[in-house]
Amino acid sequence: MRLTIRDIHKLKAAGQKIAMLTAYDAVSARLGEGAGAQMLLVGDTLGMVIQGHDSTIPVTLDHVIYHAEIVARVTHKALVVGDMPFMTYKISAEQALTNAARLMQEAQVSTVKLEGGEPYAPTIARIVAAGIPVMAHIGLLPQSIEAVGGFRVQGKDLETARQLLRDARAVQDAGAYAVVLELVPAPLAALITAELDIPTIGIGAGAGCDGQVQVFHDLLALFDAFVPRHTKQYAQIGALIREALAAYVRDVTAGAFPTDEQSFSLSPEVLAALTDTHNKADDNASHR
Ligand code: KIV
Repeated sequence: MRLTIRDIHKLKAAGQKIAMLTAYDAVSARLGEGAGAQMLLVGDTLGMVIQGHDSTIPVTLDHVIYHAEIVARVTHKALVVGDMPFMTYKISAEQALTNAARLMQEAQVSTVKLEGGEPYAPTIARIVAAGIPVMAHIGLLPQSIEAVGGFRVQGKDLETARQLLRDARAVQDAGAYAVVLELVPAPLAALITAELDIPTIGIGAGAGCDGQVQVFHDLLALFDAFVPRHTKQYAQIGALIREALAAYVRDVTAGAFPTDEQSFSLSPEVLAALTDTHNKADDNASHR
């Protein structure tokens, strides 16, 4: 049975931490779910870790739908969250609802996620009223990276910290079932977490959040453009892959791959008959 938002709320109520991972394809989805992550986020980070862009801005709704459909189809337990990309919910609440509905219907995700605090409360309320659960996302908003001026910690002074508290309350009041806190000072994230009834999921927001989210490729050192300070690389899979691929290329170049172990035999009779026929055909051709 797939987890629901009620199960996620029960985890917060029971004081159990929630583990969320990003996933973009069958491999990352199966590995993430197999590891026990309760939530899988098909994030627009796919623009950076899958498509090779410098930001998440070029990601379209069709891109997220393509990846989210795979993740939802191959998993059975984790709650699958589909990210709403740049400008797919900012023009009007109606545009947001139409696009959230596409994500639910075409990709079969269980919930959507969108970036934005207080100003997006009416949009969240409109989507939730239509029966689509929304995960909010406040703090650093990567889709606004050009306006913010880079990947930097948010809410460090009194004014912006107060705004983040207002954002958190506003998205909860609008009906969001959870909220991502990205690049928020740990004490502020802990304060927000204590104040909210809905779970907070942190990324670069300290241990006081109800849960954590990390990007699959960051955690496994598969993304090497840069290593975010909030990431712990649990394994050097990128290095392992590079070594394995180099060994393959070396073996092919040296004629050491494939060996008999990776090859398929043919019975000696069939081979002899084939060679015989072939030789006779050659003889006939040379006598003409
Ligand atoms: O797109 C994404 O993967 C995200 C996480 C980093 C929270 O929004």
